[in-house]
Amino acid sequence: MIALGTLTRLEHPEQLALLREADDPALVASTVEELLRYLNIVHNGRLRVATEDFEVAGQTVRAGEGLIMVNEMGNRDPEAFTDSDRLDIQRDARRHVAFGFGVHQCLGQPLARMELQVVYGTLYRRVPTLKLATDLDQVPFKFNGMVYGVHELPVTW
Ligand code: HEM
Repeated sequence: MIALGTLTRLEHPEQLALLREADDPALVASTVEELLRYLNIVHNGRLRVATEDFEVAGQTVRAGEGLIMVNEMGNRDPEAFTDSDRLDIQRDARRHVAFGFGVHQCLGQPLARMELQVVYGTLYRRVPTLKLATDLDQVPFKFNGMVYGVHELPVTW
């Protein structure tokens, strides 16, 4: 998430410029939420068992039936997030489900948020000339894992 978020910010220089100009911890926090929504790095679907009958989108789900929730689709749902395929660090993305939802949602999310806020709030100040050291199509992305990311991110400054 740190490498992929850094790459995403380098590929969106106008958003990085906003962050730099504002130098505002609240904007750093909303950048973290928006990157979690936009990148949604966990791709294995949430597995759940219905504890009671309920209806969703006209479908009846019976108690005991298994469900696979595709969170990454929810994070790009245009009904939940306007212009959902666009990275916008100023939007309120806090309703994203990148950490799952319900009783089994990610236990490490406060730590992950804190680490990402430190990295994203520090890196562009400490290394303002940071840039990608290779073409984007040469970056080795992880396409076949449960967690999406990059195998490595060559950078220079
Ligand atoms: C950006 C970083 C991270 C992301 C995107 C992430 C995402 C997720 C997701 C999607 C789940 C499944 C939630 C569900 O089933 O509803 C999960 C579960 C979990 N995560 Fe994370 N996670 C991150 C970092 C961490 C860290 C740093 C820790 C520990 C220090 C951690 C510990 C856990 C644990 C223990 C669970 C299982 C919770 C349960 O089943 O009750 N995660 N995480």
